Amino acid sequence: MRQASYRHHHHIMPPKGWLNDPNGTCYFNGKYHIFFQYAPESSVGGKKHWGHYTSKDMLHWIFEGIALSPDSKWDRDGAYSGYAYIEDEKMELFYTGNVKEPGDYDYINVGREHNVLFTESQDGTHFSEKELLLTNGDYPSHYSCHVRDPKVWKEGDDYYLLLGGRTRDSKAALLLYRSEDRKNWKFFKEMIPQDSFGYMLECPDYFTLNGKKVLSFCPQGMPAEREKYQNIYQSGYVFLEKNGILETEETLVEELKTENFVEWDMGFDFYAPQTFDTPDHRKILIGWAGLPDAPYGNEPAEAEGWQHSMTLLRELTEKDGKIYQKPIREYKSLRRGEEELLEETALLVLSRHFELELTVKEEQDFGIRLASDLEFYYEDGTCVLAFLNESGCGRTVRRAAVESLKNVHLYMDESILEIYVNEGEVVFTTRYYPSEANIAMIIKGIEKGNLWKVRD
Ligand code: FRU
Repeated sequence: MRQASYRHHHHIMPPKGWLNDPNGTCYFNGKYHIFFQYAPESSVGGKKHWGHYTSKDMLHWIFEGIALSPDSKWDRDGAYSGYAYIEDEKMELFYTGNVKEPGDYDYINVGREHNVLFTESQDGTHFSEKELLLTNGDYPSHYSCHVRDPKVWKEGDDYYLLLGGRTRDSKAALLLYRSEDRKNWKFFKEMIPQDSFGYMLECPDYFTLNGKKVLSFCPQGMPAEREKYQNIYQSGYVFLEKNGILETEETLVEELKTENFVEWDMGFDFYAPQTFDTPDHRKILIGWAGLPDAPYGNEPAEAEGWQHSMTLLRELTEKDGKIYQKPIREYKSLRRGEEELLEETALLVLSRHFELELTVKEEQDFGIRLASDLEFYYEDGTCVLAFLNESGCGRTVRRAAVESLKNVHLYMDESILEIYVNEGEVVFTTRYYPSEANIAMIIKGIEKGNLWKVRD
């Protein structure tokens, strides 16, 4: 077993400790900013801070340390997730302050505060004193204490703030506030889907892609099906085609249905994504390549003093009512030593950091095996990702319905594997701890392929 690190090269991750959701993702003053939920002292969690990375090119990221600490009475038990809003050359952060009263509480309906806090910055690294904008007393009284993860945007002359929530009778919900000045927020409406999205919605996002309004959120408590909702918590989107989030109650109820809900990622490790725009008008999505409370782990990474990372940055495009996700084109500049594969093949990759693009010839015969660790194959309209041994640390099998398989793009970065199917129509992200330093592969059912090592 190789001794070298399982740390990734091109997936954003902290120098040590625990990472979860991306936060405040934006482009501001010539730089990209990715903040993240961060517990620096332990690889298994702790009080959440906002860690901070910046980059000029989305490839080389500089760790800027901690941007926000849980150091006020409004966020003393965690500076939880939130968004950045840019206006007037200022970066404004809206986020959730988590407070737990000491005592014997359920921390669902009693014993917890979830406040909306505000802080701003002229330079993107130094932030003003925190301000309290909303408290649980500002949420309708039929809500539990769990109301969090603000997203802010402007529409017309007004500003809107969207929160995820859980009602007292454990229904998944979204709350929308409106403001003229981004400081005084008035309750505007709530959205409680009639279809069951479980008991809680976290980390909402709302954006326009190719002229279409997209609502993204993370439901908790949807029962697993064979090819859907296979992880403990979900993460996906619906199109709001009529008039977006401001449309009437009836149309919203029509659109907020599970049959319209598309999961962002079908692998074992994906949650709480955020989006942002680049100056050249690309819509980028980045997710946490992990999940809270997952029944499988990352022990080899934990042993190195860290645990999670982000996914690759993915450009979103929309075509015929489907969202496609592709690793941003910048990553291509890191490819080295192209090898062409002309047919079915067995080969040994002398690295755990590589990319593979395959054009599928025979769908029903398509398959790829990495060492004796995992298989990815197509069978009866379904893509299957299956671990064969302990290299998945408890991960077993994930499936996704794919009508017709055309191509597959794998990106492997030491202990994370992202698989993009049909130009990103479906994606699987998984942590994977290869049992060998070099990965022997068997590939069948392809017309051609390309393999690159990726520069570390
Ligand atoms: C999602 C989440 C958010 C919360 C944050 C706390 O993973 O639970 O809802 O703000 O993580 O770290």
